[in-house]
Amino acid sequence: MKNHFMLLLILVLVFTGSVYSQKFDGLALTPPMGWNSWNTFSCNVDEKLIQEMADAMVSSGMMDAGYRYIVIDDCWQAAMRDTLGNIRPDPLRFPSGMKALADYIHIRGLKFGIYSCAGDKTCGGYPGSKDFEIQDARTYAMWGVDYLKYDWCNTKGLNSIEAYSKMRDALSSAGRPVVFSICEWGDTKPWEWGKNVGHLWRTTGDITDCFDCIVDHGNWSSWGIMKIVDMRTDIRQYAGPDHWNDPDMLEVGRSMSQSEDRAHFSLWCMMAAPLMAGNDLRTMKKETIDILTNAEMIAVDQDPLGIQGFRFSQKDDLEVWAKPLAKGEWAVCFLNRSTIPQEMVFDWSKNVIADPVTRWALDAGTTVYTIRNIWEKKEIGTTSSIFQAVIPVHDVVVLRLKKLQ
Ligand code: GLA
Repeated sequence: MKNHFMLLLILVLVFTGSVYSQKFDGLALTPPMGWNSWNTFSCNVDEKLIQEMADAMVSSGMMDAGYRYIVIDDCWQAAMRDTLGNIRPDPLRFPSGMKALADYIHIRGLKFGIYSCAGDKTCGGYPGSKDFEIQDARTYAMWGVDYLKYDWCNTKGLNSIEAYSKMRDALSSAGRPVVFSICEWGDTKPWEWGKNVGHLWRTTGDITDCFDCIVDHGNWSSWGIMKIVDMRTDIRQYAGPDHWNDPDMLEVGRSMSQSEDRAHFSLWCMMAAPLMAGNDLRTMKKETIDILTNAEMIAVDQDPLGIQGFRFSQKDDLEVWAKPLAKGEWAVCFLNRSTIPQEMVFDWSKNVIADPVTRWALDAGTTVYTIRNIWEKKEIGTTSSIFQAVIPVHDVVVLRLKKLQ
């Protein structure tokens, strides 16, 4: 009898262990796309703003282009939990409550994301989820949360793998499928352990809206586009369907030039990065919409193989990036990072672009490819001719290559 009881106990433990120690599989087979409040609004968030952003995501065509998640970043919380320890939104800024806001978003065909932190306080000083993981996960499930960004402030003494796994398990036991976005800034190499824990992990500190600067905030810095790109050049093999390297949210449509926005967006797509817009969707210019909704560029990002692209060459601030795509196609991006226009001359037959991770090669010496210019939206010949173009300052030319039938 005693033995039977022990056996039963072991079976229950194994069963619950295997059920509760998994992330929700298949929620991010391609990099998540959406909008997040932080880059433009930081702590100034309220329900009206979020509703307007959901409306703008639909009316701007972004939803049709594939953007889904409306994520409220830090500072949505009331200063304190309620007497039962439940997390709650600030009653003045979110008077209708989070369930009503989630409904508003869901009715439009979009998904609802929220933010918390593994520490006892968020980076903005609001209540974090430490020791409240299960309770918070249940609350999120009740509200209809589909996406959780989970930060890493005020976590002294915590082990990142344990803390993030704890929240993964809490979400799992709450039962509502949630995309889990790990945001520990690359400090403890989440690419090495994040695959079974979350669907994406930040690889660096915070991005800022400049092409190549560093902004010093005293005890931390934020990073321009090229700084973020250069910071992690050796982790592409860790990314793939349902587990992405996240070089942070987009700065498109904020203060950079149109060329810089285009280069930033293209590089994020080449890197199979999550595409979380961070601009004010209500007031964006047509040029910004055109960048954020370029279907062919998005198709590079969302390619079903989910292979993160790589820098093939770098000379005089001219770079060549490549990304293998499904059906033997390739995306190739020529980037001019310098402050003068530069001519790019690229002889396909003399440059075999070999991918060290997949071991595939774009070898125009043995195969002829047709070429389409993604931003100009036109066919420009084949790899039998040398590619030549003047690339403006901080801009790109992105090509899609297909084997000639
Ligand atoms: C950290 C994150 C940011 C943002 C803020 C909010 O800095 O990296 O993306 O979420 O916290 O306080």
